[in-house]
Formats: sequence, C-alpha cells, structure tokens
Amino acid sequence: MTAPTPSRRLASAGAEPVRVPVPLGERSYDILVGRGLIDEAGPRIAALGCRAAAIVSDTTVAALYAKRLSASLQATGVRTATIAVAPGELSKSYETLAQVCDGLLAARIERSDLVVALGGGVVGDLAGFAAAVVRRGVRFVQIPTTLLAQVDSSVGGKTGINSPHGKNLVGAFHQPSLVLADTALLDSLPLREMRAGYAEVVKYGLIDDPHFFEWCERHWRGVFAGGPERDEAVARSCRAKAAVVARDEREDGDRALLNLGHTFAHALERMTGYDPRRLVHGEAVAIGLCLAFRFSMRLGLCPGQDAGRVAGHLATVGLPTRLADVPGGAGSADALLDAMAQDKKVKDGALTFILARGIGQSFIARGVEADAVRAFLEEEILAQS
Ligand code: NAD
Ligand code: GLY
Repeated sequence: MTAPTPSRRLASAGAEPVRVPVPLGERSYDILVGRGLIDEAGPRIAALGCRAAAIVSDTTVAALYAKRLSASLQATGVRTATIAVAPGELSKSYETLAQVCDGLLAARIERSDLVVALGGGVVGDLAGFAAAVVRRGVRFVQIPTTLLAQVDSSVGGKTGINSPHGKNLVGAFHQPSLVLADTALLDSLPLREMRAGYAEVVKYGLIDDPHFFEWCERHWRGVFAGGPERDEAVARSCRAKAAVVARDEREDGDRALLNLGHTFAHALERMTGYDPRRLVHGEAVAIGLCLAFRFSMRLGLCPGQDAGRVAGHLATVGLPTRLADVPGGAGSADALLDAMAQDKKVKDGALTFILARGIGQSFIARGVEADAVRAFLEEEILAQS
C-alpha cells in the first residue's frame, strides 16, 4: 500500500478508539479499533497485570513494528522479549510451534505473564496456540497487523497450526485478553494482502447483513485508502464476529456460518501447497465465496443476480473469483473433493457447506451430496477452460 500521509496520521491519531466488547463471561475481552494504538499498547497491556511480555511476530512485521511495541511496554516497566518466525502460512507448523514454545520458556515467561501476537493471522494462530499450551496456558494479547487478522482471525479464540492432513487441524480455543486493532499498521500492508483481508470483510455482509454488503460496494475505496471507512469496516466486522462468537464460542452451531466459502477455500489452499506465491488465504476465501454462491445458484437456492453481484464486487477490488484464477491451476474436481474430505467440517462422510438463499441469507447445509459438489466443480472447470 502507499505510505501513510502525515495529514491522515494527524487527523485521527490520538482519537478515542472504538470499543467492541466480546462478552464471554469470565473470558470476556475488548477489541479496540483505531489509528496509533500500538504506541499506547504498553499501558493497556500492563493494565492486564504482568511483569513480562513476549512479543511473537514474523520477521517482516517485527522489522516494522516490534521496536515501537517493545518501547511502549518497557516504558511501563514490563520486561520484553521478541520471538520472530519466518513469514507465511508454512510457519503454522509443528516445527515453528516448537520454536515459539521454547522461545517463550527461554524468555522465562510465567503463567502470570503475557504473550503478545504482533502480526497477521499466521502469527496470531501460532502464538495463540503456543500461549494455550506453554505452562498449560498463558494469557495472550492480539495486535493484528493485516486486515484479515483485524476483522477475523484475532477475534474469537481459534488458535492452531496445520498438519499434513489439512489446515488448522491441530489447535485449541484460547481467547485473547485484549485485541488492539491499530488500523494505521495496515498502511504498510502490500495491496495483495489488503485485498485478501477485504474478502473476509465482504463475508460478513454475505452472511447476514445485506446493508453492509451494499456499504462495501459503495465505500471499498475508502477502506483501502485508510480513511474513516477503514476503521468503520474493521469495527463493523469485529462487531459481527463478536456477536456470533458470543452466541456460539465453540462452534456447536451458528459459528459455522463464519466458514462461508471456507470449505472450498481450504481445499484450494491444500491443492496449492499453502504456497503464498500461488494463493494466500484471503484470495482462496474470495474464490470460495463465489463458489458458494454459484453452487447455491446451481442448487436452485440463490438468484443468479446475487451470485453475479458477489463475484462482480470481488473482481472490482482485484480479487480472484474463479478456479481458473488459481495460478498453476486448482486441480481436478475429484482432487478438490478429496481435499475437502480432509476438512474438519466433514461429519459421518457427509459434507457440510454454508450455502446462501441470497446476499445476507446464508445458512448451514448439512449432508450435502458429494456427487452434487463434483458435478458443480466439473461444470466450473469446463466453463472456464
Ligand atoms: P499472514 O499472517 O501470513 O500475513 C500476510 C503477509 O503480510 C505476511 O507476509 C506478513 O509478514 C505480512 N504483513 C503482516 N502485517 C503486515 C504489515 N502491517 N505491513 C507489511 N506486511 C505485513 O496472513 P493473514 O492473511 O493475516 O492470515 C492468514 C491466516 O489466518 C491463515 O493461516 C488462516 O488460516 C488464519 N485465519 C485464522 C482465523 C481464526 O479464527 N483463527 C480466521 C481467519 C484466518
Ligand atoms: N474464522 C472462522 C471462525 O473464527 O470461526
């Protein structure tokens, strides 16, 4: 993205952040959204009560922001250590988890201390899982630095790593104690990553809020440019996610709606070997959202106009929308189905999909026939060849 303009910094830095509560009884916490929060992180984190904080980040984000965060923490008397892993999805691995856990122990992080995840969804998922298991559970704070992490992965307590058997298959529910979404940090985010995160913003409109989808169609340029629309998009997305998580923390029901597009997306990520040069998570989600709507249309559930509008908006912002958009190809219908069968959303051999009766009218569809999915995928592949 372009560098932040000084006037924009001055315009909103120091303004009161928007507070989005996540009401979960004794595990309740706040999400704060605003520009410049990283420089006030020290007192906010120290207020949780800790003597030491381990900042877990990736090398790209650490080089940009770890010193500022450390300085803010140290100014309040909190001892800090920084652990930086390689950037990218491949770091959600057993090897990197061991590196982070041993790093936390080497930094003498006690149960009363804190882990601070400073980074995108990869760092948040990894550091959160390490915090869940080290010393049988250490509290942690999320400072998400990608749009995707600010609107989705830092909220709700899903943490974990990937296995050769599939994505996010090893993990734990471990809620953060605080989320600081500093929207100014997105000024340094590459445009491709900004777009990828935007797919998850649009998802909230598609699930149950058609007005928010319309708002996205009208205001997406402001979200990308870093105007007040960006803060609004992050806060509205967090509110939407917080409401779902408060109703169904451990995904026994409604929370599965947040997986709209994700059964397809996870299969695509698996097919592309989690290689970010080919596909990043949010891009896979963008294709997955379009497939979910076109599949719903094929099943006679959703008007073609709505499916077209979804793909149209995602294409307008520069996101991929079709299997043919996957660099190097997405594989055959059978291979994609195989990859889906590994997904944890499979129960008793039947596939669970989130389908839609229209924009903002998504629902959980259990027991979807594999043959119907195969036929749909074959049609998609044929139509685009
Ligand atoms: P990511 O963490 O890999 O970050 C993307 C890239 O952006 C990385 O190269 C990173 O170094 C760089 N980066 C991050 N912040 C930056 C900044 N401010 N400036 C410049 N560069 C920056 O990817 P992501 O899209 O944030 O997260 C994807 C992961 O999130 C996936 O593993 C996915 O499974 C997970 N996820 C988890 C949940 C959940 O509920 N736990 C929800 C959605 C996604
Ligand atoms: N991103 C899906 C969830 O948090 O449940």
